[in-house]
Amino acid sequence: MSQLLGKIALVTGSTSGIGAAAAAALAAAGAHVVVSGRRAGLGEAVAERIRGEGGRAEFVAADVTVEEDVARLVDTTVERHGRLDIAFNNAGGGGAFGPLDRVPAEAFAEVVAVNLTGTYHALKHEIAAMRASGGGSIVNNASTAGVQGNAFGLGAYTAAKHGVVGLTRAAALEAGPAGIRVNALITGPVDTEEFRRRVGGHPGALERAGLATALGRIATEKEIADAVVFLGSDAAGFVTGALLGLDGGMTAGVAAGMAQRPGGGGAGPDARVPAAA
Ligand SMILES: NC(=O)c1ccc[n+]([C@@H]2O[C@H](COP(=O)([O-])OP(=O)(O)OC[C@H]3O[C@@H](n4cnc5c(N)ncnc54)[C@H](OP(=O)(O)O)[C@@H]3O)[C@@H](O)[C@H]2O)c1
Repeated sequence: MSQLLGKIALVTGSTSGIGAAAAAALAAAGAHVVVSGRRAGLGEAVAERIRGEGGRAEFVAADVTVEEDVARLVDTTVERHGRLDIAFNNAGGGGAFGPLDRVPAEAFAEVVAVNLTGTYHALKHEIAAMRASGGGSIVNNASTAGVQGNAFGLGAYTAAKHGVVGLTRAAALEAGPAGIRVNALITGPVDTEEFRRRVGGHPGALERAGLATALGRIATEKEIADAVVFLGSDAAGFVTGALLGLDGGMTAGVAAGMAQRPGGGGAGPDARVPAAA
């Protein structure tokens, strides 16, 4: 694959999981990839692995909750490579579980800071860079929690990811005239280390999370990464402001497998298992 040959791509939150897989997929498609996150050791290793496979990548540390970090990340990319063509804003995570009446305000604010404010910081500086070079493609990683609620104690995350959907739509409309496309992924449960950690104590939890999808399984990291490559490429040249469902049909309605869950589709004893992650 070489559809992204010569493109400069940036992936926030690519030290592990979906972001690391997307960085590898973008590089395999020909892009030079700037890997980013807070954990420098892991980020350097992701970039080294890509280079070892013949790709082009480097690591630049940044905490997306700190605007100066994000500004430096984008500026460094443009200084070194002359432009920014593709950005995948993936940094995020679920934070503390708990019903809204019990989640401490600090925990709520942390989840919003990384998922929503972090995406705003990234969009702000990426759009400015892309305006200067005549266009680009931005992909925000939302979640099924960006378009539906759930009773799994993920209220802060749900609110923040709904915000990511709103930012995506506003940014697509504002930046479209400058040739900048902005889309969001409505990502269902994905088999990442982090997802396994969150459902860890529950036997059969991965399988149960899959029952909420029409396909009866959770996604692989590669299935999400491939969609990022598509949205970053000219093949998606008329796609903007879109919410791309990568959820195995989870948001289409109630899947057949839900009848097998405790309570026949309600939240059962495994209510803390985040079918929406
Ligand atoms: N796995 C799923 O089932 C699923 C489903 C829907 C949506 N998602 C979304 O997909 C994204 C990746 O999730 P994942 O499952 O791949 O988990 P992950 O492996 O924990 O990835 C999270 C990434 O975000 C980075 N990150 C976290 N806080 C950050 C901060 N303040 N500044 C910069 N980077 C930060 C982490 O890097 P550092 O720790 O090095 O900073 C890491 O690279 C998240 O946005 C998540 O909400 C995941």
